[in-house]
Amino acid sequence: MTTPLSDLEMQLVALKQEAQQAIATTTTLEDLEQLRIKYLGKKGSLSQVLGGMGRLDASERPRIGASANEVKEIIQAELDQKKATLQSAQIEAKLISEALDVTMPGVFYPQGRAHPLTSTIERALDVFVGLGYTVAEGPEMETDYYNFEALNTPADHPARDMQDTFYLSDGNLLRTHTSSVQIRYMENNEPPIRVAAPGRVYRRDTVDATHSAVFHQIEILAVDEGLTFTDLRGTIKIFLEAMFGDLPIRFRPSFFPFTEPSAEVDVQWRGRWLEVLGCGMVDPNVLKSVGYDPEIYTGFAAGFGVERFAMVLHQMDDIRRLYNSDLRFLRQF
Ligand code: DAH
Repeated sequence: MTTPLSDLEMQLVALKQEAQQAIATTTTLEDLEQLRIKYLGKKGSLSQVLGGMGRLDASERPRIGASANEVKEIIQAELDQKKATLQSAQIEAKLISEALDVTMPGVFYPQGRAHPLTSTIERALDVFVGLGYTVAEGPEMETDYYNFEALNTPADHPARDMQDTFYLSDGNLLRTHTSSVQIRYMENNEPPIRVAAPGRVYRRDTVDATHSAVFHQIEILAVDEGLTFTDLRGTIKIFLEAMFGDLPIRFRPSFFPFTEPSAEVDVQWRGRWLEVLGCGMVDPNVLKSVGYDPEIYTGFAAGFGVERFAMVLHQMDDIRRLYNSDLRFLRQF
């Protein structure tokens, strides 16, 4: 009976030593948990050794049981201690990796700002939105119909020469003005209408200080029962006042195929009359082209170049400055 007894005791001693060594060399909490399961788990080494207790003499059991408990407590204690050590090492490492040096100089992020064309568009749209207008947009590649035909400018109309057009090989064109949005909007909406349509337009112009082949316009359109030239005049006056301040303005008779009568508007700016926009009462033919009855509805429209406004407002000498992305220039606005 001595053999199984010392066997078990030796097994317990060996188990304890093996466990102690394994715990001592563990470096992660996950591995440590694996060791706990391996040695103290339900199916762990200690349970297996204790399985042999059944073969012991009843008188031996308390002693072996006691030393098994002792081994268990020792292993458990070492596990606990190692766990605490690993946990604090983990916290330590985290603190070091997340350390913040509050004395380090910061990173400089230059502050961005809106491009003068963008801010001019936004300012103008703000005025019209304040007057109850909705912002609308249309495509830059257009058909002849929307850019000319529906705007009362048939193929043989001499007014087509006013706007040298970029034609595409598929028969489409790059819109020469935002007036095309008038037609698109009216086709999809019923009066009363109040829209402002900003966007890029294209013309075969030679680039110089005041011309660019690509520039921006904002189009205004109002259609309702009983609108008159007085409404147009009042709207334009309020708009120009908001942009330039309370300056003298004048309406000069002009011609556009899509308005009748038509006018150009000048602002007296620093002692000179500056032409700033075209406008007029929507031609009945334009209303007819979208299926509105010109006996019931009248409308007014206006269009102006954004670059022109930006240049006047900021006293710019050359339109090309607006496209060069030269930060020394753009930072001024
Ligand atoms: N589309 C014209 C142009 O590009 C500007 C214009 C004039 C627009 C009169 C209008 C208008 O809506 O009524 O020169």
